[in-house]
Amino acid sequence: MGTDLKSVQALSSEEAADELERLAADIAEHNRRYHQDDSPVISDAEFDALTRRNAEIEARFPELVRADSPSGAVGAAPAEGFAKVRHGVPMLSLAKAYTDEDVVDFLERAKRFFARDEDLDIAFTAEPKIDGLSASLRYENGVFVQGATRGDGAVGEDITANLRTIADIPHELAGSGWPETIEIRGEVYMSYAEFEALKARSAASGGQDYVNPRNTAAGSLRQKDPSVTASRKLNFFAYAWGFSSEDPAPTQFDAVRKFGDWGFRISPLMIRAGTVEELIAHYRRIEEQRSSLGYDIDGVVYKVDQLELQRRWGFISGEPRWAVAHKFPAERATTTLRGIDIQVGRTGTLAPVARLDPVGVGGVTVENVTLHNEDYIAGRDSNGLPIRGGTVERPVDIRIGDTVVIQRAGDVIPQIVDVVLDKRPADATEYRMRDTCPVCGSPATREINEKTGRPDSRRRCTGELVCAAQAVESLKHFVSRGAMDIEGLGAENIELFFNSGLLRTAADIFTLKERRADVQRALFERREAQAQAREASKGAARKKVLSAEERTYEGLDKLFAAIEARREPELDRFIFALGIRHVGDTTAAMLARTFSTVEEFVSVGKAAAAAEDPHTVFPSINGIGDTVIGALCGFFGNERNDEVLKALLEQVRPKPYVIDLEAGSAVAGKTVVFTGTLTRMSRSEAKAMAERLGAKVAGSVSAKTDLVVAGPGAGSKLKQATDLGIEVIDEDGWFIRVGQG
Ligand code: IVH
Repeated sequence: MGTDLKSVQALSSEEAADELERLAADIAEHNRRYHQDDSPVISDAEFDALTRRNAEIEARFPELVRADSPSGAVGAAPAEGFAKVRHGVPMLSLAKAYTDEDVVDFLERAKRFFARDEDLDIAFTAEPKIDGLSASLRYENGVFVQGATRGDGAVGEDITANLRTIADIPHELAGSGWPETIEIRGEVYMSYAEFEALKARSAASGGQDYVNPRNTAAGSLRQKDPSVTASRKLNFFAYAWGFSSEDPAPTQFDAVRKFGDWGFRISPLMIRAGTVEELIAHYRRIEEQRSSLGYDIDGVVYKVDQLELQRRWGFISGEPRWAVAHKFPAERATTTLRGIDIQVGRTGTLAPVARLDPVGVGGVTVENVTLHNEDYIAGRDSNGLPIRGGTVERPVDIRIGDTVVIQRAGDVIPQIVDVVLDKRPADATEYRMRDTCPVCGSPATREINEKTGRPDSRRRCTGELVCAAQAVESLKHFVSRGAMDIEGLGAENIELFFNSGLLRTAADIFTLKERRADVQRALFERREAQAQAREASKGAARKKVLSAEERTYEGLDKLFAAIEARREPELDRFIFALGIRHVGDTTAAMLARTFSTVEEFVSVGKAAAAAEDPHTVFPSINGIGDTVIGALCGFFGNERNDEVLKALLEQVRPKPYVIDLEAGSAVAGKTVVFTGTLTRMSRSEAKAMAERLGAKVAGSVSAKTDLVVAGPGAGSKLKQATDLGIEVIDEDGWFIRVGQG
C-alpha cells in the first residue's frame, strides 16, 4: 500500500473525487475477493484503513459521496444461485482493537456512556473470535426453518439445505424455554484436521487445491449440491442472535449458555469479567492456546454482558458500540526464498512470485507468495520510501537465497514482511526485473501514471492479445463467475483448450461445439496424462488402460449446454466479461444501466475513442471518471479489439438492460439529479431507492434531466435546473412523489 497519501485536509476537490473513485473500486474489489471469491489479498487492518480513508474524505466532501460509495454497503452483494433472505435483524460487523490500549479505551467509553448510573456494574463477556463464516439460523417453535449467510449484512443467501448437513446445528432445539422465533447466529468453520483430510483426499484424486480452512469452509457452504457440503465436515459455534421474539436471557453470557442447553456447541473459552485486566488476561490465555485449538481464531471478542445496557449503548455505522474484536497479531514463520518467477496477468502486468521452501504458518503450508512488483522487491515504494509489510518496515531488498519472514494475517494471502540479513548468503545478488515479457517476448514497460507523473509500480507486457498469457487470462476472466459464468469451463479447461489451439478469443468458445471431436481428444489426453502421473507417483506397476466408455468425456454435453445457455448474457455481465481495464463489475453495471443495449455501448465507445475530447461524446455518469473513460477509449480505439468484439457479437446477443420497475412508480424512466444536503437518506440510499423505482440517477443537470431533488446548500445544479425549466422538488417532496411521504 502506498505511503504517499496526502492528508484529507490537504486534498483539493478534484483530488478527493479521484480518490473516492479509486477507493470505491478498490474496496469493491477487496470485498468481492473476500466475500465472493474467498481470496483476500490485503489484511483486515489494511482494509479498515481504506474504508476509514474513504469515510474521512466523504466527511469532508459530502457533495462528492458517490452513488457506489463503499460506506453505504457492508460486504458484497449476495452471490447468484441461491435465493435471497432478508435477515430479521441485520448481521453486523465488529469494531476492532489491535492493542491493549484500544481495549482500555473501549472500557473507558463504556464507563463514560453510563457515567450517570453510579452504581452500575458493567460486566463483559470474552470469547474467541472464530475465523470462519457467520450464519444465521432461524428457528420457529424450536424447529430449524431457514439458514442464511451474512451476505451484505441485510440480505444473505439461503443455504438452509447445506447448513442442515452440519452436525453441530440441531434440526430441533433441545430442552425448553426457547423463544417462539429466534435467529441463532454463529460461525461455520472447518477444523485443521478436516482441512488436511480433505486436501489429502483431493490430492489422491487429482482434484483441486485448497488454500486455507476458511476459504474451503466458504466454498463448501456455497455448494449447489448439499451432499458435497455433507462430505466436508464443517463445525458451528453459536455466539449471538438476531431477531428473537423475546430475550433469550437478561445477559449475553446466560443467553449463550442457554444456546448450549438447546443443543448448540458454544465456546468453552467464553468467560464473564468486570475489569480490563481480567479481559486482557483472558486474551493472553486464549492466545497461548491458539495453536492447539485445532481451528483458526483471529482474536477475542468482548461484549457488554447486560442486554439492557447493550440496547442503551446501541450501534454506530453497522457496528454495535457494545462489542469489540481484539485481534491477534498476524502469525509469522521463517523460510528460504529459492527463486522468483514472473506471472503475466490479464492486463499484462508482470507479477513476480517468490518460490519458497514450504513452511507452515497458522495452519496452512506456504510455498509461494506474491512479490507485487520490482519496487517491492527492492524494498522501496515509488517515492523511494521503505516498503511497509504488515506493521514492519522492510528497508532492504529481497534476494534469491534470502531467509525471509512470512506473515499470514487471518485468512489473508501470506506476505513477506522481513528479510533476515544475518543469514544472507554471500552470493545473493540483487534481483533485476526483466524488461521483456517472459511469455511473448514483447517489451515490458512501466507506464507513466498520468495523475502522479511517476512510473507505475508494475511493469506491463505491451503484447496485448499477441501475448498468450494475456489471452489466456482474458479468457479465464471472460468465463468466470462474476462475468459470463460458464460452468464447467474453468481455468484449467481454458488453459487446455488454449494450448491445444482450440481457443484464441472469446468468440471461439461458442464454436467449440462444432469441434467436438477435437475438444474430446484434448480432454481425453489430459485425463490419460493425469491418470498416468497418479499411477507413477504411487509407484504402481499396473498401467490402467482407459475403456472406450471412459474415453467419451461424459461432461462434454454438459459443457456445451452451459455454453449455449450463455448466448444471451445480461449486458452488465457481458461488459464486465470484456475485461476492459478499470471496468469492474460495479462500473460495468453503471455502463449497462446508462446505455441499455450493447449496440449503444459500442457506438458511444467508438465515437468517444475517435473524438478529440471524449467528454463531448461520453455522457456524464455519476461514478465514472477519467480513468474509466480513458480505458474505454483505449479499448474501443484498438482495431484488434474491434475484430474480437465483432466476432463475439456474431455469437452472443447480450440482453438489453432492463430496470426492474416497481409497478406504478411515478419516477420510472425519469432521469433524476440529487443535489445539496439530504437529511432523510444518504446519497447512496437516495440513488439506490430511485433506481429501485426505475429512475436513472445522473450526476449533473442537462436537458435530459427530468427532475432535480434539491436539499439545503444546493448550488450550481439548482441554478442550471431553474435555468433549463426543469422541475425541482425538495427531499420531502421526493418522498411524497414516490408514495412514501
Ligand atoms: S459477535 C453483534 N462473536 O466476526 C455482533 N462475532 O467482525 C455480532 N465472529 O461477522 C458478532 N467469532 O462472523 C461475534 N465470538 C464471536 C465471533 C464473531 C467470530 C465473526 C462474525 C462476525 C465478525 C464480525
